[in-house]
Amino acid sequence: MARKAVNYVCQECGTSSSKWSGRCEGCGKWNTLAEEAAPEATPKGLGAKKGRKITFQGLRGKTEHPPRQISGIQEFDRVTGGGMVQGSALLVGGDPGIGKSTVVMQVAAALSGSLKVAYISGEEAIDQLRLRADRLGVADTDVVLAAATSVRDIAQTLDDADGPDLVIIDSIQTMFVDSLDSAPGTVSQVRTSAQELIRLAKRRGFALILVGHVTKEGQIAGPRVLEHMVDTVLYFEGDRSHQFRILRSVKNRFGATDEIGVFEMTGEGLREVANPSALFLADREEDVSGACVFAGMEGSRPLLVEIQSLTMPSSLATPRRAVVGWDTGRLAMIMAVLEARCGLTLSGMDVFLNVAGGLKISEPAADLAVACALVSSVSGVALPGETVIFGEIGLSGEIRAVPQINARLKEASKLGFARAIIPTPPRTKGKKAAPTIQSGLTITEVSRLEDLLALFAIPDGKRGKPQASAEPPVNHAAAPPMDLPHG
Ligand code: TYD
Ligand code: MG
Repeated sequence: MARKAVNYVCQECGTSSSKWSGRCEGCGKWNTLAEEAAPEATPKGLGAKKGRKITFQGLRGKTEHPPRQISGIQEFDRVTGGGMVQGSALLVGGDPGIGKSTVVMQVAAALSGSLKVAYISGEEAIDQLRLRADRLGVADTDVVLAAATSVRDIAQTLDDADGPDLVIIDSIQTMFVDSLDSAPGTVSQVRTSAQELIRLAKRRGFALILVGHVTKEGQIAGPRVLEHMVDTVLYFEGDRSHQFRILRSVKNRFGATDEIGVFEMTGEGLREVANPSALFLADREEDVSGACVFAGMEGSRPLLVEIQSLTMPSSLATPRRAVVGWDTGRLAMIMAVLEARCGLTLSGMDVFLNVAGGLKISEPAADLAVACALVSSVSGVALPGETVIFGEIGLSGEIRAVPQINARLKEASKLGFARAIIPTPPRTKGKKAAPTIQSGLTITEVSRLEDLLALFAIPDGKRGKPQASAEPPVNHAAAPPMDLPHG
């Protein structure tokens, strides 16, 4: 008898290889390869058999916008691009225990008034689901529950003209297709189960929500292996030690990505946060050195967060660099620019950077705020409390304009900020740039990183000579010094 071929498949990214190795060649993660039965060999090439001709259609022509299912949970409706679309598949990924089951139960309950909603759990028993619903105060809604894991049984049940309009599968990693040899949770099981369910959803026209756990150790396949198959991917993130939870859309065939929905985990489930900036700035102490407020954008929504940094002389040969909520590589770049272009000595210092509230920021517009927090920490000079700051930093020390300046300033003004440090808007041939800034804030424009440093009085000895000098600034209409407390 021929030996059964096996494959080693990375449970993180799905790359398969014929022999085992400790490190995945696809994504570089360690210890994520697991043995799975190799897929049956596909025939090589098309052969002589003739196919049918496909017909082409024009781009013009009338197609109705697909109907949307609006849950009324605004933070959820925003990230889905205005409600879920019939016949679409949505993946909700996140760490175990972050609140995925809670959010989908709340969405299910909210939609059950107008739709037939089925919640299929492979992880929890019916009693557990009922207890959760009770806790969330949605126990007397018309959601129907089932505890099942066999995709064959589930498909058989749902393939019905009277079937539900919304189906929730919690979680896709517990589902299995009995024709495969691999264990539930492996890449091939997760993919095949999802494929079968998505195909059925398209055919029957129900919306499908798949819950998927993000895994660190690679025992079960992560939601990444499904991202290309579904229409919408939402990640539920946040720090379990904080109450804030952020639902972020990373892919959406029916709306914008990078939208976020902000929730707060309470004893009675997730509560929507209508004004996240106020929440993220709630515990802020004003006028402390090493902190500043970044006016950021998350999708279409402005969001103010505090960026904190602490620098101190290191006793280690390799100083510590600890970053929470931002990219370590980007911090290294900004420190290098500060040192090389402005002569601010940061080597030999331990540097800690924190985005307050457990939020993760990926916008380059936060560069200037990070630089500001660092400079403020090194100099011991605090930025006046009612100031916001944003801008991107280039390698030669130039400050670049960022999009949506007005939205950022408007949010800052709404929250009672009085000043803003922003990039000098680009000027085209003597003309002033288009964006008209009307915010009521006192604006300080900076075009180079030196302009930012000039706002702080750096004590002697903390500032050396720049190691590399950039070209003299073209438009160095030096920013007027701000009246800093100790300046
Ligand atoms: P859960 O939705 O079960 O997480 P997941 O499905 O992502 O694994 O929620 C897990 C945590 O949320 C759990 O530790 C308890 C907490 N929680 C609350 O704080 N309040 C609530 O009302 C509920 C339902 C859960
Ligand atoms: Mg769960």
